[in-house]
Amino acid sequence: MQAASLVVRSVRNLADAVLDIPPPGMALVGPNGSGKTSLLEALGYPVLFRSLRGARDREMARHGGPGFHITVTRADSIAIGATWTASTGRKRVTVDGVDQRAVTAALGHWLAVAFLPGDPVLVYGGAAERRRWLDRMLSLARPAYLSGLLRYRAALAQRNAAMRRGDPRSAEPFDGILAEAGAAVASARREWSATAEAGWRDELAHLGEPLAVGLRYRGDEALVDPAAWPERLAGSRTRDLSRGQTHVGPHRDDLVLTLDGRPLRSVGSTGQQRTAAIALRLLERETLATARQVRPALLVDDVFAELDGTRQARLAARLREHGGQLVVTAPRVEDLPRELELVRWDVREGKVTA
Ligand SMILES: Nc1ncnc2c1ncn2[C@@H]1O[C@H](COP(=O)(O)OP(=O)(O)O)[C@@H](O)[C@H]1O
Ligand SMILES: [Mg+2]
Repeated sequence: MQAASLVVRSVRNLADAVLDIPPPGMALVGPNGSGKTSLLEALGYPVLFRSLRGARDREMARHGGPGFHITVTRADSIAIGATWTASTGRKRVTVDGVDQRAVTAALGHWLAVAFLPGDPVLVYGGAAERRRWLDRMLSLARPAYLSGLLRYRAALAQRNAAMRRGDPRSAEPFDGILAEAGAAVASARREWSATAEAGWRDELAHLGEPLAVGLRYRGDEALVDPAAWPERLAGSRTRDLSRGQTHVGPHRDDLVLTLDGRPLRSVGSTGQQRTAAIALRLLERETLATARQVRPALLVDDVFAELDGTRQARLAARLREHGGQLVVTAPRVEDLPRELELVRWDVREGKVTA
C-alpha cells in the first residue's frame, strides 16, 4: 500500500503542508525536536484514527490550535481523511470523500506498521502493553475483531461499575455480552498466537539473531467458548464484588515471551529485547500483509540509530525485501544504512523540504 500524498493541518509542530510522497518512501532527517516523529504520526494516524504512540487526539493537535486535519491519499487516489475539532472533541473520518459513521467502518483503507523507539516495552513491559499491541494488530487484520473488543470493553466497564456500587443485580445483564464478545476476542488472539511463534523465530533469524524464543498466549482456555463463561463468572462473583472489578476474561490475559524457556522480560539483555521487539513488528507486518493481501507501509522512527552497523544492514535488508513503502527517520544521515536507498527529506522546525 502506498501513500501518494499527505495533507497536514495544525498537526503538532508541523507547518501546514501538502506533501508528495515518493513511491519507495523517504528518509526524514533532522535534529531532535524538528518534527520527524510528528510527520510519522501524521502518516500513521489514518490507520486506526489514533496516535501511533497512543497519545490523545488533543496532543496530536498543534498547541492552542483549533484541532487538526490529516489526509493520506493512496497511489490509487483513494483518500482517507481525519479531522479532529478541539472545541467539540469530535472526530470526523472520511474515505474517498464519504463520511464514515464509525471508525470501525473505516479500518483497512490505509495500513501501516510503525517501528517506534519505545518498542522494547512490548518485551519488558507488563501484559497490558502486549494486549494493546495484539488488539491494534488484530483490529486491522480481522474486520470483526475491533467491534467485538469494543462491545467487550463497554460491557466490562458497565459490569465493573455495578460491582463497585455493590449492585450485582445490575451487573448481570452484561454477563451475556461479556461472554459472547469476550469469547470472540479470546479465540481470535489464541488463533493468531498458535501460528505466530514460528514466524517470530523466523524474523529473528533473518535479523541474524536466531534466539530460542517462545511465544504463547496465556489465559483461561475454556473462555473461547461463550458457554463456559456463566460458570466462570459465577465462581468469581464474590471476589468481583469485593474488589469492584471482573477477574475473568481476556482483559487479564498475556502473550508470554520467553528465551530458552525463561521470561524474556527478565532474562533478555537490552539488545535482545530490542531485536525481539523489532521482530514482533516484522511479524505484525507479515500478519497484516497475509490478512489483507496488501503490503502495509512501514514507518520506522529512530530505530536505526539504536543499532550497530551489522544489525542496521540486516534490518534494512529485511525492510527492503518487503517491497512496500518505507519511511524512516534519523537525527543524522550517518545513522541510516546505505542499503535503504531512500531519498532524503530534511525536517527543520516543523518544515519539511524534499
Ligand atoms: N501538540 C503540539 N503542538 C505544538 N508542538 C508540539 C506538539 N507536540 C509536540 N510538539 C513539539 O514538536 C516538536 C517536534 O517534535 P517531534 O516530532 O517529536 O520531533 P523529532 O521527532 O524530530 O525529534 C518538539 O519540539 C515538540 O515539543
Ligand atoms: Mg522523534
